[in-house]
Amino acid sequence: MSAPQRPDTESARPPHLPVFDLRAHDAALSAEIAGAVSRVLRSGWFVLGPELEAFEKAFAAWLGGGYVVGVASGTDALQLALAAAGVGAGDGVLTVPNTAVPTVSAITALGARPRFVDVSPDTALIDPAAIDAAVAPDCRAIVPVHLYGRLAEMEAIGEVARRHRLAIIEDAAQAHGARRSGRAAGTWGEFGCFSFYPSKNLGAYGDGGAIWTASAEDAARLREMRNYGQRDRYVHASVGVNSRLDEIQAAILATKLPHLERWNQRRRELAGTYRRLLEPLPLRLPAPAPPGEHVYHLFTVRSAHRAHLREALAAAGIATQIHYPIPVHRQQAYRDLGYPAGAFPEAEAWCAETLSLPFSPALGENALQRVAAALAAAREGERG
Ligand SMILES: Cc1ncc(COP(=O)(O)O)c(C=O)c1O
Repeated sequence: MSAPQRPDTESARPPHLPVFDLRAHDAALSAEIAGAVSRVLRSGWFVLGPELEAFEKAFAAWLGGGYVVGVASGTDALQLALAAAGVGAGDGVLTVPNTAVPTVSAITALGARPRFVDVSPDTALIDPAAIDAAVAPDCRAIVPVHLYGRLAEMEAIGEVARRHRLAIIEDAAQAHGARRSGRAAGTWGEFGCFSFYPSKNLGAYGDGGAIWTASAEDAARLREMRNYGQRDRYVHASVGVNSRLDEIQAAILATKLPHLERWNQRRRELAGTYRRLLEPLPLRLPAPAPPGEHVYHLFTVRSAHRAHLREALAAAGIATQIHYPIPVHRQQAYRDLGYPAGAFPEAEAWCAETLSLPFSPALGENALQRVAAALAAAREGERG
């Protein structure tokens, strides 16, 4: 006997498709992750212990060597790295306006002044050719952001930075494992900053971050800084903060790390699928990247009809996000920096048109086909 039919309206409604579904992403590892958490619970050791030490070593090795210092968030990673690079009150720090606000708040938290640089119209990444004109006498550092998972042009940035004696602090929050010539995002400058926010390519079950450095002395200094400036128990050589990656998060991250390369590869495959499916539509797709240089933290398209597309996708049960709708220099909180609208036309155009589609290594091709079909239908609707 066949099962009773559901009413048409219900059976026709497809399931909601989120931009990123962490439960689906980690489903195959859930028992292992639960085991790691329970190991920490049984140990009774929750802060600055063996799990963190093991993860720091494993992540440094995964990045190709050097030292990793776990901290409480990507924002803290940036702030501590900038401070360790000698950035303080009154210093200028170059970065882009079309980034997550924490890239900039880490700079202003130190009393330093963000000096924005426009981005490439093709990639949304800092335009090396625009840096010279943005450098002011107060500039001490530059923070390239590997936005959406794509490695910035670090050779050219390195050359400008050397000329102007700028420390390079990479914002690699979205680019775990993006590599050029085998060299990983986050390992090109003095410091590389990572976020382990749950939806990142390597995500914790809460907040977390890390700083990479090639220097053992800088790593030791950062370990002191993240722990109230404490060198030995109750001996404080410097003024520090409390910013530590806790044992539970470190154990979870260590469990996930061996899978990161495979996840990144799957992201590249799915990006290729999206590309194929969306090619016929009047959208701007991400500029193709040489193999390895993009880990597709997000899959973003550009359209002058973004609001219409978002609405049409939402009506079809498909979520989208915008990374980021308001460039930082146009945020109310940063108006006093004095940059007018139109100061960074390329970054502003990205903010006006970029749209992040559902994307995760856990997605099947059918989900991408569903998004593509909804986008195609939206275009039909626009014409009609
Ligand atoms: C580009 C960028 N920089 C910095 C951060 C800050 O990281 P967190 O949220 O871990 O503080 C994020 C993530 O939110 C980010 O995407």
